[in-house]
Amino acid sequence: MTEVITLFGTRPEIIKMSQMIPLLDKNFDHRFVFTGQHFSREMVEIFFDQLKLRKPDSILTPHAAETAAIVGSDYSVLIPSIAKELKNSKAEYVIVYGDTNSTLAATLAGLQYGKKIIHIEAGLRSYDKRMAEELVRVLVDHNSDILFTPTELTSSFLDKEGIKESKYIVGNSVVDATLKYLGEAEKTSKILDELKIKKDEYILVTIHRAENVDKPEKLMRILRALAANGREIILPIHPRVKKRVMEFGFKIPDSIKVIDPVGYLDMLKLLKNASLVITDSGGVQEEAITLKVPCLTLRETTERWETISAGANFLVGTESQLIDYHIKMVLNTELKKKIQQIENPYGDGKTSEKIVKILKDVI
Ligand code: UD1
Ligand code: UDP
Repeated sequence: MTEVITLFGTRPEIIKMSQMIPLLDKNFDHRFVFTGQHFSREMVEIFFDQLKLRKPDSILTPHAAETAAIVGSDYSVLIPSIAKELKNSKAEYVIVYGDTNSTLAATLAGLQYGKKIIHIEAGLRSYDKRMAEELVRVLVDHNSDILFTPTELTSSFLDKEGIKESKYIVGNSVVDATLKYLGEAEKTSKILDELKIKKDEYILVTIHRAENVDKPEKLMRILRALAANGREIILPIHPRVKKRVMEFGFKIPDSIKVIDPVGYLDMLKLLKNASLVITDSGGVQEEAITLKVPCLTLRETTERWETISAGANFLVGTESQLIDYHIKMVLNTELKKKIQQIENPYGDGKTSEKIVKILKDVI
């Protein structure tokens, strides 16, 4: 059996790889390593539990949690422990996902020890090099041996950069998890009652991009714009934002209901029943179109262009007038009804199966 090693270490990667790990276990001599980039219970364990993902064969501890909470997880901090893992591994292939520090660190260490790189969710481009994630995408794509892209558009971005071989269009595995757990979330999550909110009567917000939250003026501008809107806002707060709010000595306006990060079942319930989602997250843009919830993206650019051209997602930047204008545009029109007709550009929830089937044929 071919030896394969998968490495990842953040919340979205756990969600997006959750349906693939059992299939890799079944079909390959597979080792699964968690890089430890994310480490808090509400960012890690709750997702392993709810998505019934088996324990990793190895959980790296690149930094003490207290240190990470202060200095963050620069990719270079992650490399030594990953390199130790790969140095002793006989695996021919390393699987990495997406565009995080873990993706880059595992790719660089993999290359150093002569591994072939398999990149899942390849080809995404925001064309904004100020985003740390964009650099990771480009570097990892150009050093991968096998690439899985979600859509024709992302595959065409790779063509344009001269990457024409060994790439496959397979959809996005976030849909696998979303569709699998939506029913259970609708049935078992009590989050709407707990927060005393009703279907279609609140806006769900998630923010965490460094470009939006690391500068006090910008973070405050976004939070004020959201608060001024007068509608019920629910904000599960990402640890990066919690840390910044404390550092900056802010008080988040009272009209925003700030809650701890929620597990996947509560998140799906909150998303599915929101009148609108406002976000700068990549995964949430994909889930919004999957669940047919209108989305406003607090960025000037995105790498999820398919959601924009489908008419389900709007790039609104971070200026308060634009945020306010778009909220009204979505809530005061028939947009939500229209979005119900949109076909999901990210596939039918069978991406993990497709990827493993292709891998069985080619490696
Ligand atoms: C990372 C990814 C980003 C992804 C996001 C998903 C990179 C460059 N960025 O950003 O692409 O969208 O994960 O959520 O890899 N923290 C905790 N507990 C945790 C995780 C983070 O307290 O479990 C705090 C720490 O203070 C840490 C900070 O959040 O310093 C930032 O974490 P980090 O992993 O560096 O980046 P994210 O903002 O999470
Ligand atoms: N998510 C969650 N609970 C939360 C916030 C987000 O389960 O409190 C999920 C969300 O549904 C999506 C993923 O986390 O599947 C997105 O992660 P994040 O926004 O941190 O990262 P990105 O997708 O931007 O890389």
